[in-house]
Amino acid sequence: MKGIILAGGKGTRLYPITKVLSKQILPVYDKPMIYYSLSVLMLAGIKDILIISSERDISFYEALLGNGVQYGVNIQYSIQKEPRGIAEAFIIGRSFIANSSVALILGDNVFYGDAFYKILGNIGELESQAIVFAYYVYDPSNYGIVEFNRQGEAISVEEKPVCPKSNYAIPGLYFYDSSVVDKAQQLKPSNRGELEITDINKMYLYNKQLKVLPLDSKTKWYDTGTCKSLHEASSFVRKTQRKGKAYVGCIEEVAFRKGYISEEQLLSLARSNIKSDYGRYLIGLTTKG
Ligand code: G1P
Repeated sequence: MKGIILAGGKGTRLYPITKVLSKQILPVYDKPMIYYSLSVLMLAGIKDILIISSERDISFYEALLGNGVQYGVNIQYSIQKEPRGIAEAFIIGRSFIANSSVALILGDNVFYGDAFYKILGNIGELESQAIVFAYYVYDPSNYGIVEFNRQGEAISVEEKPVCPKSNYAIPGLYFYDSSVVDKAQQLKPSNRGELEITDINKMYLYNKQLKVLPLDSKTKWYDTGTCKSLHEASSFVRKTQRKGKAYVGCIEEVAFRKGYISEEQLLSLARSNIKSDYGRYLIGLTTKG
């Protein structure tokens, strides 16, 4: 399976912060936002990753993450010229995806939770053409929303509905078979002028191929696209890490635990961050800690 991180958009909901800076490079507490989505793909065992961003911002990500070899993964980059919607990622990434299945994650989404990590670890075994998640929210008009019947089967999906049929949002993490590329090519822009990911989900749902996995109440999900949610996510990460639990979104740790890099490589990554708590945490993961 291949993975795409969409780190595009103009971040207008964060203005003036993002007037000259890419949203997904901003800190969520102690690390760049994009670390969190990259760690999710890595936890799902994905090593071939395409990062898509705007012409203005792509160089930030290249400077930050390079070709990924230091984390034992392979990272490539592509440009989204205009923010024409999430589903455009599959058109931009067509040759990268080739005949593979693909995971798409939005670069401003933060996930946390043991049950969620477990699902990620087993995702390859979940035989399904399309897998998305459902997360209970109090502001359903801001998201793609899924409605379930009494049997718990998904029966409708709608993008930012004015009268939501449920409180279950579909977070920005999607797993699809390779037919997603053709599906994306058939899409017409929505009223807001975007190729909607929800329209892709509708196609899979219509074909009875959409598996929707509800996330348990202990799992946390943040779409960090506004100042409020960015602050909440930062506070959550700080609190969780202070409790002495494992760091959230720590790509170096994931790479090490997955066996993508050796202890020597981890040490060298740690040493390059040695003046911060982050670097010291990495040292602590090694036998030198
Ligand atoms: C996008 C999707 C929406 C999804 C959300 C998750 O919304 O369109 O379906 O629920 O991401 O973060 P947007 O970021 O465009 O508000």
